[in-house]
Amino acid sequence: MMNIPLNDLKAQYLTIKDEIDAAMNEVILNCSFVGGKTLEAFERSFAEFCEVPYAVGVGNGTDALQLALMACGVGPGSEVITVSHTFTATAEAVVNVGARPVFVDVDDSYTMNVDQAARHITPRTKAILPVHLYGQPADMEPLIGLAKKNGLVVIEDAAQAHGARYKGKRVGSLGDAACFSFYPGKNLGAYGDGGAVVTNNQEIAQSVRMLRDHGRTQKYIHKKTGFNSRLDTLQAAILRVKLGHLEEWNKLRRTHAALYSRLLSKIPNVALPPNSPDTEHVYHLYVIRIPDRDKIQAALKSAGIQTGIHYPLPLHEQPAYAFLGYRPDDLPHTHAVASEILSLPMYSELAEDQVHHIVAALKQNLPATS
Ligand SMILES: Cc1ncc(COP(=O)(O)O)c(C=O)c1O
Repeated sequence: MMNIPLNDLKAQYLTIKDEIDAAMNEVILNCSFVGGKTLEAFERSFAEFCEVPYAVGVGNGTDALQLALMACGVGPGSEVITVSHTFTATAEAVVNVGARPVFVDVDDSYTMNVDQAARHITPRTKAILPVHLYGQPADMEPLIGLAKKNGLVVIEDAAQAHGARYKGKRVGSLGDAACFSFYPGKNLGAYGDGGAVVTNNQEIAQSVRMLRDHGRTQKYIHKKTGFNSRLDTLQAAILRVKLGHLEEWNKLRRTHAALYSRLLSKIPNVALPPNSPDTEHVYHLYVIRIPDRDKIQAALKSAGIQTGIHYPLPLHEQPAYAFLGYRPDDLPHTHAVASEILSLPMYSELAEDQVHHIVAALKQNLPATS
C-alpha cells in the first residue's frame, strides 16, 4: 500500500536541511532571539516578495488580522463583511477587536461573492475582509471598487495564499493591509507559529509595529496598551531561507494541480478547483467537490491516502458565532459546499505517480453514474 499524507513537512525539511540548520545555528550563536537584523532582513525580503514597501512580522496569522483591524480603526460598533467559509481565525479576530462579523456567501471560486458583499453594506460597515482561500485570490477589483465607493478599508486574509497573483499583482499588495500566517503547513511555514501584516500604507505599518510590541514607541515609552506578538528571530531566520524557495515550491504545487485537474476532468461528478486566467492560484490546498464525500474520504483513508476537509462546519453554523443569529440556509452555497469539499494531498514534494495513484483510488471509489 502506498501511504500518502495530506502534507509532508519532513520531506520539505530534508531538501533544505543544511541551509535551515545553518540559519538556526547562527541565531543561537548570536543569542539575538527577539528582533534584530535577521528579523528586519526577513521583513524586507517578504515585503519585496509581496511587492509592497512594508511588512511587519507578528506572532501568528490571527494576531496579524487582529492588529491590522485595529490599525485600520476597526473596533466596537464596526461591522466587517467577511465570509463564513474560512478558518475561524478570520472572524475570531473581528470579534476580538469588538467588531461584528457580517457573513456573506462564497461563489464557485470559494471566495467572497461580490454581489452579496455589496448588499450587506450598512452605515456601520467599516471594512471588507475577503479570504484568498486555498491559495485562490478573491475577486479584488470589484471589492476594492465597492470599498472606495463606500469609504471602507479592505483587509486581505492571505493566510493561505503566499505568492498568489490577481491580475498580475501579488496578493498582499491589493488591499489597505494584508495578513499572512506562517503556521508550519502553510505554503511559507515556520517551525512554530508566525505571521505578518503587509501594506502599502506607512501609518498602518507603524501602528502594527507599535501594537505588536507592547504599544512601544521607544524603550519604556508606551503610547498604547498593545500586545506581545512579535515574530521570533529563530522563525524569521527559517522563513528567510524558505522564502528563497517559495517561487519554486509554488510552481511545483501548480504543476501537481494541473495534473490532478487533467486526470480528474475525465471523471463525472467531480468539480475541480477554479482556474481563472485573471489569477495565479498557489494551491495551498487542492480542493474538489464530490457527492458522497464522507464515504469517499473513508475509502481513501483505508487505501492509505490522507485527505482533509477545509472546513466541515461553516462559521455561521459554529457555536462560537451562534450569538450572531444565523441559520444554516442564510448562506446556501457555503452550507452546500461544506458537505462536498475534499482536500487531496498537496505539497511540492508530491510525486507524479502519487497523483496518478490518488486519482485512480478516487475513481475506484466514486459511486457509479447512471
Ligand atoms: C484563512 C486563515 N486565516 C487566518 C489563519 C490564522 O493563522 P494562524 O494559525 O497563524 O493564527 C489561518 C491559519 O490557519 C487561515 O487559514
